Amino acid sequence: MTLRTDDFRARARRYLPRFVFDYVDGGAEDERCLRRNRDDLDALRLVPNCLRDTSTIDTAVEVFGRRWAHPVGVAPVGFNGLVRPQGDVLLARAAAAQGLPFVLSTASNARLEAVRAAAPEAVLWMQLYVMGERAIAEQIVRRAKAARFEALVLTVDVPVSGLRERDVRNGFRLPFRPGPRMLWDLASHPAWSLGMARQGAPVFVNLSEHADGAASAQVQAALLARAMDRSLVWDSLAWLRGLWSGPLLLKGVLHHGDARRALQAGVDGLIVSNHGGRQLDAAPSSISVLGGILDAVEGRVPVFADSGFRRGSDVLKAVALGARGVFLGRHAVWGLAAGGEAGAREALALIGSEIERTMTLMGAASLRELGRGQLAPAFAEA
Ligand code: FNR
Repeated sequence: MTLRTDDFRARARRYLPRFVFDYVDGGAEDERCLRRNRDDLDALRLVPNCLRDTSTIDTAVEVFGRRWAHPVGVAPVGFNGLVRPQGDVLLARAAAAQGLPFVLSTASNARLEAVRAAAPEAVLWMQLYVMGERAIAEQIVRRAKAARFEALVLTVDVPVSGLRERDVRNGFRLPFRPGPRMLWDLASHPAWSLGMARQGAPVFVNLSEHADGAASAQVQAALLARAMDRSLVWDSLAWLRGLWSGPLLLKGVLHHGDARRALQAGVDGLIVSNHGGRQLDAAPSSISVLGGILDAVEGRVPVFADSGFRRGSDVLKAVALGARGVFLGRHAVWGLAAGGEAGAREALALIGSEIERTMTLMGAASLRELGRGQLAPAFAEA
């Protein structure tokens, strides 16, 4: 039975070769941040109100003029094409079917135009990594605009890649040169291997388009090594602003000082995130710094969170603190791995039904009725 995120994860584990499962599941270094995300969410309690009219529950939220069925979106995840052929397209369609937004990664394996064509009515956002020639990022932004992507998400927590020890141990690097252990791994997962054989090795198509062959190979390598443009600084936001007039969000903000700075720079939203524990292993959990960032922002722009959210109740903890919504990374990918588009839909629907039930149990008929008064720390810490 698939009743919870762990069940999707278990199905994903059976379907995926070990090195792919670990690529998605793993975090940086000792994976302390990965665990902290869960521990801190678990340590926060929701305190229900009783005897309130919950005969109808409205779980919807409005973001930049669009209605989301729940305060939930699908986070940008690179290399979805390694999980399932056309993984980005399947996830975008699943999100759209659930009335939820989908954020396409710069490191996707589907052309952004193909994702739009597959989900014409979807709320699509584009995530941006800036690396190599700035002209490459400029092209992506222009194409995203032409393909009616509605917001641009600049990821700011990857000046260099976190060290994912599982990937190193598994020998997962590009160009892909499987050793004997990996070949055994592939042979033990025939369904996955057949799908990949049909699709061909996934490449970062959104980047290869722009440059000549040599530059393109360089950028592909840079993306894999996540060799970002480290000269990207606060002043560079003006450059992006000049290219993109729609909503611009920063993803990966954890410091309230940076949140203030972002407001001064004119950004339209923030995603409080530690990249799912994949970057700075000593970083705080998103939920532990979310309140301070919301206080600094004072409601001037919508603030979202991600990293470690697995249940509807987790989502509502962030919403009660004041977040507009939450993005799901691994939970959605486990659904995709477990059952393709239908699996991703099922995983997202599960969170939706948990949100609705939890709101009913909380005595909150709409998200507006949730506030910090219904949050309590774990007893031991009180
Ligand atoms: C990510 N994440 C990510 N973020 C981003 O801005 N660009 C990217 O290309 C990727 N790639 C990526 C790959 C994989 C396998 C994972 C698991 C994550 C981070 C992602 O957007 C999000 O911040 C986290 O996944 C949120 O944490 P949870 O929900 O996975 O715990």
